[in-house]
Parts: sequence; structure tokens; C-alpha cells
Amino acid sequence: MASDSGTASAHPVLFKAVPGGLAGAVTVPGDKSISHRALMLGALAVGETRIEGLLEGEDVLATAGAMRAMGADIVRGDDGVWHAHGVGVGGLLQPGQALDMGNSGTSTRLLMGLLASHALTATFIGDASLSKRPMGRVTEPLSLMGAEFNATPGGRLPLTMRGLCPAVPIEYRLPVASAQVKSAVLLAGLNTPGITRVIEPVATRDHSERMLKGFGATLTVEKDGDGASIISIIGEAELKPQHIIVPGDPSSAAFPMVGALIVPGSDVVIRNVGLNPTRAGLVGLLKAMGGAVEILNPREVGGEPVGDLHIRHSALSGFEPDPAAAPSMIDEFPVAFIAAAFATGRSVFRGLEELRVKESDRITTMAEGLRMIGAQVEEIADGLIIDGSGGEPLPGGGPISTRLDHRIAMSFAVAGLHSRKGVTIDDMAPVATSFPGFTAMLGELGAGVAAS
Ligand code: S3P
Repeated sequence: MASDSGTASAHPVLFKAVPGGLAGAVTVPGDKSISHRALMLGALAVGETRIEGLLEGEDVLATAGAMRAMGADIVRGDDGVWHAHGVGVGGLLQPGQALDMGNSGTSTRLLMGLLASHALTATFIGDASLSKRPMGRVTEPLSLMGAEFNATPGGRLPLTMRGLCPAVPIEYRLPVASAQVKSAVLLAGLNTPGITRVIEPVATRDHSERMLKGFGATLTVEKDGDGASIISIIGEAELKPQHIIVPGDPSSAAFPMVGALIVPGSDVVIRNVGLNPTRAGLVGLLKAMGGAVEILNPREVGGEPVGDLHIRHSALSGFEPDPAAAPSMIDEFPVAFIAAAFATGRSVFRGLEELRVKESDRITTMAEGLRMIGAQVEEIADGLIIDGSGGEPLPGGGPISTRLDHRIAMSFAVAGLHSRKGVTIDDMAPVATSFPGFTAMLGELGAGVAAS
């Protein structure tokens, strides 16, 4: 069986066409962004924080391991509920060894923020993918707050930092639309006396703001005359333990969603999907392309909008998404490119230079993979131009080079479901960072998978 449990060594896996289409109802694992934040804040709040639906993927487990290494008590109950007993804001202890962040940019950047206002020294290490990613975007504002960094040339991992306590509150205008940078500064502000302010010209996911408020921090969001958000947090904060219910991750739901749209005959329900507007851009894009995506039973769970998605196979049309909407679907572009490769007509994706610094360079990696499976694609500096198959299956082929990027693996797995020869993925192991059980979930919907 194809493995995305993270324990198997790399072996190619073939994802084959699904005659008759995908069918059934599935759930996807908990939201990765919310899971990281729940563990971090639970590790600070004195008392017991209970977390239901935590994503038990490698990235989130890296955060749990780091918080334990700095003194928090974090355990998983037999019923799958996680329990965190925190050390109090400002109470993190110096870790005894380097913090291994694996593949996780979110763990790394948010933890650098948390540690920036603690008087301790910590070293961050990661895998080959994470060690190529830029950290200057967080070390720059955190240096203004007084933290010191000794990074590998290019501002990369391995990196050693020394935080400052008390740190200096700053007002920081985000030069790049990044929830990780915003969150790093706000988390540093938790233990910094005074008001730490982030000015966000382009909205990005707001889970940090929602959860910080939920845990009792004094945090306000106002708009300035240009529509930018001014987010202010008052330190030193005291956090109260919470009961968190983590909704299903819309970034994971994106894969069965696109699969159902492109495979003829499909009719699928994905239950309990987070639909925070700062994350729901893909739903809007797929609808604009003509996709039958219906939101059932919209509700609020734990301060986040949630719904069930009903998706039916649809004739998709090429589309040119507005680059301003990019942050609301920043992790979904790889699978959106797959949708475009099966649409009728041309799709033009621009303004996506941020994709070049994700777990892989997602513009080049997707262009190469799409070409390999017979799609018409042109790579441009800030995106892709894709001429779709008009709903016909693509030839297929492979093996696709995943480059330690979970979302590349899952995107091409989905493409295989409507291909003539199937699509071979070189290594499904990276999928365990965000979506353990991905291959089994596709199997529940009727997809056939074989070791290649
Ligand atoms: C995340 C923010 C985004 C996203 C990442 C998770 C977060 O990164 O790509 O997967 O949880 O804050 P950027 O802040 O780099 O855009």
C-alpha cells in the first residue's frame, strides 16, 4: 500500500484513473495552521488547554516536540484529545538541544517569534527543503525588537537565536503578505511590555488574531485609511487555558475537491471543512471556473466558520484569478493548476512569486510536472499560463519529483485520477507532514493506487 505515514522510505506510487468517478463522504485532518497555534498558546497558558481534532502530522508534531523541549507538558489522550499544561507567558525554558523543525516553516517562523522575547538561546534545524527557505523575513522585525540571530548565509537554517527580555515593542509594516511574519511579531509581542503593532496592507490568514483573543490576550484590529489592518497586541499578556476544536483543513480538502471536479461522474461530500474567508479563496476560484461546489450546513465551531462541501464533476473553464486574492489560497495553487490543466481554455496565474519560496519552488516544480504528464503549460516569472485539456484525461506518466513538498505530491496524485496511464509520484512520504491518511482517503472515494 502506498504510504503517507512518513515511516516508509521513498518508493514510487501510481495513482490511476477512476472509472465512474469519486463517490462518498470523507473528512480531512485538522487544520495545520490552527493546530500549530493551539499548541503554542496552550503551552503558554497556565492550566489545562484541551485540543480536539489536532492535526497529527509531522509539522504539528514538530511544534509539540519543541514546546515540550521548552518546558510545556503536552500529551495525547487515548481518545485523541490533546492536553497542554502551559508554563505561563514568558516562562519558556532554554531547550537542551537544537529544535528540529523537520519540513515545517510555520513551526520555525512562529517559534522564532515566541522566543524573541524570552532571554534564552535556541538553535533551529530542519530538512533540506526547510534549510533552503528564507528566514530574513522574520529575523528582520524580530531583530528590531532586540533578538539576535546567527543564521547560515542567505538568512537560512541552521540558525541560532538569542531572545531579549524585556524586548522592545515595535510597529511593523509587513513588506510581504505573510501570516507567518505577522504571527511571529504578534507572538513576540505577547511577552513584550507595551503595544506591539503589525500593519498588514494585504489580508492574510487571521488564525493568530482569533486565537490570541480567544486565549484572553488584549488584541485589537482596526483599518487605516488605505484599508490596511492595524493589529495591536498589549504585552505582557496573561493567557487563559481554552478548549479548542480544530476544523478540517481547507488546504487538505482542496485535493478531494479538485479530484471530484475533474473526474467524470464524481459526487463527493467533504465534512467539517474550515471556511475562514482568509483561507477560502480556492472555493471562489473553482466556482468562478464553473465548478459545482456547494456549502452545506454552514456553522461556527470554536470561533471559526465551518461547513460541509458537496462537489460534483463539472465542466471547468479557464480563468485568470485576481492576484489580490492569492493570500486566501496561497497553499492551494498547486492543485488549482491541476484544475486549470483539465479546464477548457486558458488560465493565467500571475502575481505568485511567493510560491517560489514554499516547501519547493512551486512554480517550476508544477510546470515541470505538468509538462511530464502531457499538459500545456508555460512558466512565467510570477506564475503559470496553462491551456487546459477541455475536460479530456491527460496522458499521465511520471515519476513526478516531489522535492520534499507534500502539496506537489498530492496535486499530481489528483491529476492521476483523470489520466490515461496514471501518474507516478516519486515519493509520497512528504504527505505525512500535513495529511496523514491522504492515500487511504482517496481509496475511500474509490481511487485505485498501486506501488509502481
Ligand atoms: C501559514 C502561512 C502561509 C502558508 C503556510 C502556513 C501559517 O505562509 O503558506 O502553509 O500558518 O501562518 P506565509 O506566511 O509564508 O505566506
